[in-house]
Amino acid sequence: MSSSGFPTPLSSHAGRGIFQDVYEAAEDSFLLMDALQKDAETLQRMRQGCSSPRCTDVNPAAAHCTARTAFCNRVALQPVITDLVQGLLPRLGGQVDVLLFNPPYVVTPSEEVGSRGIEASWAGGQRGREVTDRFLPLVPGLLSTRGLFYLVTIAENQPDDIIRLMSHFDLEGESSLTTRAGNERLSVLRFHRKQQRRQ
Ligand SMILES: C[S@@+](CC[C@H](N)C(=O)[O-])C[C@H]1O[C@@H](n2cnc3c(N)ncnc32)[C@H](O)[C@@H]1O
Repeated sequence: MSSSGFPTPLSSHAGRGIFQDVYEAAEDSFLLMDALQKDAETLQRMRQGCSSPRCTDVNPAAAHCTARTAFCNRVALQPVITDLVQGLLPRLGGQVDVLLFNPPYVVTPSEEVGSRGIEASWAGGQRGREVTDRFLPLVPGLLSTRGLFYLVTIAENQPDDIIRLMSHFDLEGESSLTTRAGNERLSVLRFHRKQQRRQ
């Protein structure tokens, strides 16, 4: 269980054997789950009439590992191996009710960004923002009118700057949850369309 009582998916295969080059769920993953738990009532309501979940990963081993995780937890999910959401757009345009991104957010040299291996789990380049910043402009085109977008950040990513940036796309954001994990100040940011009534 995560700290909030949300059942933690079985994922003990991650980071081991054929999945050794796959990120194991950690404090950032659990904070994201806690943010979803906090909004559980809203998210349950949104689930009605929704189609199946989609996910992507640039690391083929991570995508295969996610397929195993889905199977172990009796969830129907076919991960797509791709960069960000390539291959899902324009098909999913304006149709995503709940969008989650736990990106590689660690500050690293730019040359470390762009791997398709385990480094892709953490290498975020300058300000830890290089992958996130490529994704943010795609968000308004993906979200449905009632859609919510959850993004994991650390302080070095300058979450306030991300919130300001997203307001230019007519998305309003706030910090939903924050915690300290070692020397990381983790936050989950939550965004919705500006005209959408707050839940
Ligand atoms: C911090 S890990 C999060 C893993 C897992 N989603 C979780 O929350 O525990 C970041 C994940 O993003 C993937 N990733 C990095 N860059 C990507 C990109 N350009 N497109 C798709 N996935 C990417 C990594 O391979 C890694 O699995």
